[in-house]
Amino acid sequence: MRVMIKKESVEALKNRVDIVDVVGGYLDLRRSGANYMARCPFHDERTASFSVNSKGFYYCFGCGAKGDVIDFVQNMEKVSFGEAAQKIADMYNFTLEYERGADYKKRDYRPLEALRNFYRDNLSQTVEAKKYLLDRGLGEAMIEKFEIGYAPDNAPQLEFLRSRKIDYANAIAAGVLVDDAERGRFYARFTKRIIFPIYAATGAIVGFGGRTISDHPAKYINSPQSEFFDKSRTLFALPLAREAILRAKSAIVCEGYMDAVMLHQAGFTNAIATLGTALTTDHLPLLKRLENPRVILSYDSDAAGQEAAFKAAKLLAANNFSGGVALFSGGKDPADLVQSGSAEVLARSYENPVPFAKFALQKIIDRAPNPDAAFAECGEFLNNLSDLAYENARMFAAAMLGIDYRRFKRRYRPLEAAPSLLSGRGDINELQVIKTLRIDPALLAALADYLDERIFCYHRDLFRALFSGDERDFYPLAAEERIGVLSAEQTREALRALLVIYYEKELLRFRAFGDAERIKSAQLVLNELKTQKKLAPFREI
Ligand code: UTP
Ligand code: MN
Repeated sequence: MRVMIKKESVEALKNRVDIVDVVGGYLDLRRSGANYMARCPFHDERTASFSVNSKGFYYCFGCGAKGDVIDFVQNMEKVSFGEAAQKIADMYNFTLEYERGADYKKRDYRPLEALRNFYRDNLSQTVEAKKYLLDRGLGEAMIEKFEIGYAPDNAPQLEFLRSRKIDYANAIAAGVLVDDAERGRFYARFTKRIIFPIYAATGAIVGFGGRTISDHPAKYINSPQSEFFDKSRTLFALPLAREAILRAKSAIVCEGYMDAVMLHQAGFTNAIATLGTALTTDHLPLLKRLENPRVILSYDSDAAGQEAAFKAAKLLAANNFSGGVALFSGGKDPADLVQSGSAEVLARSYENPVPFAKFALQKIIDRAPNPDAAFAECGEFLNNLSDLAYENARMFAAAMLGIDYRRFKRRYRPLEAAPSLLSGRGDINELQVIKTLRIDPALLAALADYLDERIFCYHRDLFRALFSGDERDFYPLAAEERIGVLSAEQTREALRALLVIYYEKELLRFRAFGDAERIKSAQLVLNELKTQKKLAPFREI
């Protein structure tokens, strides 16, 4: 049935939220004049034609998709209007008002909150549970910080729910109670397990993870998927780690509850964990929202962990995350290392993680049956990267394969192919310089003194676009394989050549006018540029 949110409440929500902020949680937005641009999530493209303006709307120049912040979340998450609005409201801690009589039932968090407290109280009363944790090296402080508890037998839990007058239906909806209709009874989902409460990024409690201490065949069980809990969009310990992640601008992502808890104990308070699931695209907005931190993958070093790290590294590289994979030997996980007092081993590997692209390429090459397959699969991987990451990664790949990096050809979709830029004469230098400066803003800044649009005779507009243009201005340049990206040294060299051409033309002009003073100045500059091969800052003579 349709959920009715009051119209005024929707308007108030829209006024409250910043569309740039919300969309920025999903897409990599870049400022472009008064707008922000990104690659459009609603159609396949390599370059950014998706714009967001500060007035609260988005529009894609490529596919025509448009709308406001609620439309965006609706289309992005494939949810209803009501769900999208509620989701945005949750992000902003905003309370939506629903029409009276609507069948919307506010989620009842009481079963989760009450049981969390009950489990926590139970831990101190259960000697074997407490001993289990202490034996694993977990101290009192972390037990408190993570609100770790113990779920006893079934009977006391049902008794507790009854005593607190908690509606069984709500406890079932929250995933903590199971209705065994066949046998006509209810039972607690978690019994005889150490309990780790799970919180959403918003800080709301959404479920539990429970570890057996009696050798039950299921080592861990987690709350089921529900309206409270979506494990592929939840990262364990995120609210606790938020501050540290923002401060360090990096997040350590590990596999297990115990890993995250033990890492916090060892002082790595930016540690979070996936919940018995692989890292997926659905997790990425959660990370991006934390101001796009570096991600350090710290998975188990056993075969399963390596495989998971490989998949996650490919995903993170393709989504432009910086950071890498931290490895240690011996099939251990981070919790084991903290327990055995080897926190400094962890610290060292966290300082120097293997970059995602490098890690993924190495694995691809190791696994390929022959060099041709390795080359093909590396090419496939490279092609999914952004332009900037592509150039770096293909150097890695070429070096690892012992081949010339130019053998990797960037493939763009036909849509973006454009008429060749190379029809002119003597303009390759200009295009190479522009292409390089576009993907290397640091170099652009470093060379600022030597650059001026007047030295770009053939592609002045494209040069201007480096500063004021939009991604689409570069479609043809990006697509033109014959224009390579230069090293910093080559760029200086190419720039020197352009400056020489410029001053030589100026010199001709001054000669035509018989302007002795200027002729002399031009000759001096040219001497510096040509004979001493020194780059001279651009100046008008
Ligand atoms: P691991 O098997 O590596 O668990 O699974 P662990 O954290 O090292 O276990 P400890 O140290 O023996 O307690 C990593 C994660 O995978 C999920 C859990 O989230 C676990 O933390 N998992 C594992 C399950 O959901 N179910 C399982 O049966 C096992
Ligand atoms: Mn583990």
